[in-house]
Amino acid sequence: MAGPPHLLTLADLTVPQIKRLLNHSALLKHSATPWLAPHGSLSYKRASTLRLPSQSLFNKTIAMLFSKRSTRTRLAAETSATLLGGRALFLGKEDIQLGVNESPRDSARVIGGMCQGIFARVGEHSEIEELAKYSPVPVINALSSLWHPTQILADLMTLHEHAALFATPESEADAEKQENEKPKERKPDPRHTTPTLPALRPLTIAYVGDSANVLHDMLVTFPRLGHKMRVATPADPQYRAPAPVWDRVVELGCDKDIWWGEDPKEAVRGADVVITDTWISMGQEAEAEQRLKDFQGYQVTEELCREGGANPDWKFMHCLPRKKNEVDDEVFYGPRSLVFPEADNRKWTIMALFDIIIGKWDLDGDGSST
Ligand code: CP
Ligand code: NVA
Repeated sequence: MAGPPHLLTLADLTVPQIKRLLNHSALLKHSATPWLAPHGSLSYKRASTLRLPSQSLFNKTIAMLFSKRSTRTRLAAETSATLLGGRALFLGKEDIQLGVNESPRDSARVIGGMCQGIFARVGEHSEIEELAKYSPVPVINALSSLWHPTQILADLMTLHEHAALFATPESEADAEKQENEKPKERKPDPRHTTPTLPALRPLTIAYVGDSANVLHDMLVTFPRLGHKMRVATPADPQYRAPAPVWDRVVELGCDKDIWWGEDPKEAVRGADVVITDTWISMGQEAEAEQRLKDFQGYQVTEELCREGGANPDWKFMHCLPRKKNEVDDEVFYGPRSLVFPEADNRKWTIMALFDIIIGKWDLDGDGSST
């Protein structure tokens, strides 16, 4: 029998699996928050629209092995495990033997004997690889030195929910034409329909900052979904994607849709979306002084994007937590910013992963792996 499904990076998933996870996230969001219109805007609908989400975690416990801090990922995991009828057991690095008195191999076997899933935020990526290798239950990466897959699912969900903001006159005309060509049917009652996320036109997505876990999962995902990436990182090779990441980018054929340079202004040229992340990832605090110097000129501002020639309607995203040196207040709190809907969507995307991977062991949606 095949082993349990794991998720260590989105590079491991096919495009249909990613799309299914996104649509499932939308369904869960719609089921659990009937007061939201399907794609996020507030609209008080009748309580009768509430559907209980799948209780696939009933009687199940997910071990949350977090060796680093977290607000969003932890809250998303704990609240969504409850909604799925299960429990998330938070185990910080001071709480358990893992990494101090016990190897990941032994901890994985023991935890997997008592819990039905592992959600782990680790230091080196090799730690989560070892957990997955020896775990008898699914392992999901909650952030490692190389990858942050759950973040990019939330980013994609947010972009799809805001697809209308990126519509061009041509894409609107196309959509209208397609609608007019469809045979006319009676409109279904929205209370009984299953929401799917709106389609998104191909975007130009700029990333200005450090080549770290968040960017790495974008590199192996956005191009496969039809989007182009433009990335600017400082000249020093330490700020380029490391070989294990770039190898996956090339293997998936994503490199042909990625422009990579050093000039943030060049990177934002034609950008529909501009994204950044911290310049000092967790664990790099000792390098702070040098990094702050190396990233001078990388702050995302209106001026940078105007001078660089971004699409005048560009939108801003950031995984959070955010520091002012990466993006100024005008952009971060301004009308271009999607950062808080993006943070909210961490919950629905993590809930979809828990339901499909840990609850049902069924990434392909055909029941074949249960
Ligand atoms: N974006 C993100 O992973 O946030 P936390 O570190 O707060 O979980
Ligand atoms: N790159 C950041 C992401 C935090 C969510 C870090 O690793 O600290």
